[in-house]
Formats: sequence, C-alpha cells, structure tokens
Amino acid sequence: MKRGLWLVLLLGFSALSFAPERAKADLDYLVGIGPRVAGSPAAAQAAEYLARQARAAGYVVEFQPFSYTRSRDTGSSLSLGESRLEAFALSGSPGGVFEAVLQAVPGVGAAGDYDSLDVQGKIVVVRRGGIPFLEKARQAAARGALAIVVVNNEPGGVRGTYGATGPIPGVTVAGREGEGLFARSGERVRLVVGSVLEQAQARNVIARHADSQAPGVVVGGHYDSVPGAPGANDNASGTVTALELARTLLAESWARDVWFVWFDGEEDGLWGSRNFVQAYPEWVRGLRAMINLDMVGVRASSALGIGGNPALLELLEQSGVRFNDIGGSGGSDHTPFAQAGVPVLFFHWGIDPNYHQPTDTVADAQIMAETAGVVRLALERILGR
Ligand code: BES
Ligand code: ZN
Repeated sequence: MKRGLWLVLLLGFSALSFAPERAKADLDYLVGIGPRVAGSPAAAQAAEYLARQARAAGYVVEFQPFSYTRSRDTGSSLSLGESRLEAFALSGSPGGVFEAVLQAVPGVGAAGDYDSLDVQGKIVVVRRGGIPFLEKARQAAARGALAIVVVNNEPGGVRGTYGATGPIPGVTVAGREGEGLFARSGERVRLVVGSVLEQAQARNVIARHADSQAPGVVVGGHYDSVPGAPGANDNASGTVTALELARTLLAESWARDVWFVWFDGEEDGLWGSRNFVQAYPEWVRGLRAMINLDMVGVRASSALGIGGNPALLELLEQSGVRFNDIGGSGGSDHTPFAQAGVPVLFFHWGIDPNYHQPTDTVADAQIMAETAGVVRLALERILGR
C-alpha cells in the first residue's frame, strides 16, 4: 500500500477513536473548577467549557435555560438541656426556630404509630425507614405537630428530601446521637431549621450536527454536582465520556442524528432532563433511544452496569457485551425519558466510596473509554449500521 494511504488511514483512525488523554484533560478541567452546583458560577463555567469544546469539534450548540426553586440548609440543630445535636434540614422543609416539647413516636411515624398520643404543638421524633420522609411529616402535621425530627436508622447522618414542599419543618439527626432522644419525651427542646428557599437558574447544553433537524438518539449525562463535591465520578465522568464520544462520532454519517445533551440540576431532582422532556415533546416522541451516562469512571463493581429497556438490553447481550443488568431503576436523567415512553439505557459502574463526598476527585479515563466503546456499539445497533 502507498505511504500516503497509510497516513490517511492513520489520521482517520486517530480522529475517530476515543482518546483517553483527551477525556482526562476534560475531566481535569471540570474537576478543577470545583463543585458544579446548579446555578453557581462553577456550573456556568462548566457549561461554557462543554459548549466551547462541542463547537470546536464541529457541533451546533445551544443552551436550554430553566429555573426552579430549591431549598438550602444554612445550618440546623436540635438542643436539649446542655446538649446540641447537629441536624440536616430535609430538602423542601420550611425553615425557622422552634421551642416546644419533644414527643417520641414509636416506630417510623406511620398512621398507626400515633395511637393515643397527643402531639399537638409538639416536636415529634420518629425513626427513619418504612415510609418516605414526606409521609412521616404529613402524619405528624395532620395531628398538629409543630415539626418533625427523623433519627437515622444507621449510626451516621443522612441528608434527606421531602421531594416536594413539606407541610411542617423537618430534620434528620444521626442515629448514634439521635437514638437517645426517644428517652427524652416531655422535655423542652429548641429546634433550628436553617432551610432557605432559593431560585436556581440552570441550563442544559445541547449539541447536534448542523444537518440534523431532530434527534434520533440522545446521549447524555448530568454535569452538575452536589455542594461540596467536585463530582469527578458523579458525574464529570459521564459528561466527558459523552463529550469525547461526540468528537469521535461527528464525521460518521450514520451517527448524524445522535444528539448530545448535558443536563443541569440533576442532583436537585432531575430538573434538566425533566425540562428537556417537557420543552421538546416532538423531539422526545421521535427518539429511538436515550442513553444516560452517570458514574462511569470508577470500577466500583465487577462489571459495567446497564439498565433500562429490555429489548435494548437484549440487543447488547446478543452483540456479546458483558454487563450487569441493573433493571429499570435508578435516580438519574434517563428516568423522565423512560416515563415519556422513550426506550432508555442507563450506564454506570456502581457506587464508589467517594459518592457525594469532597473526595470525589478521581475518575479513570480507561474505564470511560471502555464504557464509550459499549455506547458506540449500542448506537450502531440501534441506528442499524
Ligand atoms: N449519580 C447518582 C445516581 C446514581 C446512583 C448513579 C448510583 C449510579 C449509581 C445521581 O447523581 C444521584 O445522586 N441521584 C439521586 C436522586 C436524584 C433524583 C436527586 C440519588 O440516587 O439519590
Ligand atoms: Zn449522578
């Protein structure tokens, strides 16, 4: 073969294959920004970076702005006598400072646990588990309780959410310290719930081929992270895997209708993906699949986990891909698409010890490359290449 042809092939391949060193540079950049909390300057910087990179690769990029109300805990505590316990306001809880009598409720605070108890004007304490936080609060509120304290069912603390605006103020306390509260019924306590409501201005980043009018497949992942965590594995890993995959796919004519979407506001309750689904019903109706990448940079389990649509999973299995079928569950951005009837695939490597911690600072580009290879195969099968 002529030398020139070899060169063309070589250049062709290097442009078309996933480059771990490029993905690592993207990851280092995003992690270096710090926690990418939706609506923060850091998240804005991350979105600009993604847009710049996707444009440089040749995509047409647009932002999809949206806003939502979220609650933030500025510091919460429960004091009785000399002792002061640290508390976490439930997300969606009203805030305030309350002094009242503590009332222990046996069990998890379900309807039947209140038999012959008078909780009117009191602060109730219940155990975590069994029913959602919001349901516990509703049961307490229906009986006139002022506020609710939920003791974790593990020694440490837990950050919980009402998943909506709660009817009364609610906090969690660590199991280790909180268990003692059940023996303190009748004592006066002081509860500080530092919950404040704020408006988050967020935006998704949408990248498409200039000649594509509607997406055939959406590949994406959230780029926001929780406060205090630089979110390397959760989810700079999925973000940059999608970005590098995007670079490698642009020149492929069969992949022209693969659109890339980086979602914001996932950690506050899937706001980005829900807004996408709501704002673009016609695109969503036309989708053959949505592929979500969330936590794909740390090998926290023995095999790649893939969940979602059974027919798509079957397709992958028949293509010889080895993976753990993780079923249809998972709190991430594929869920609003699945609820809208889109066949989804959800890729992740399991929950690592640094999940939602300040120590979430590393992700391995080789694992991301491996994941991207499977996503590419899925795209080829779905798009009938
Ligand atoms: N990355 C997680 C979801 C996840 C968990 C992926 C385990 C892979 C394995 C996501 O960012 C998250 O934390 N989701 C929340 C729910 C969401 C609705 C706020 C969760 O799982 O608690
Ligand atoms: Zn995540």
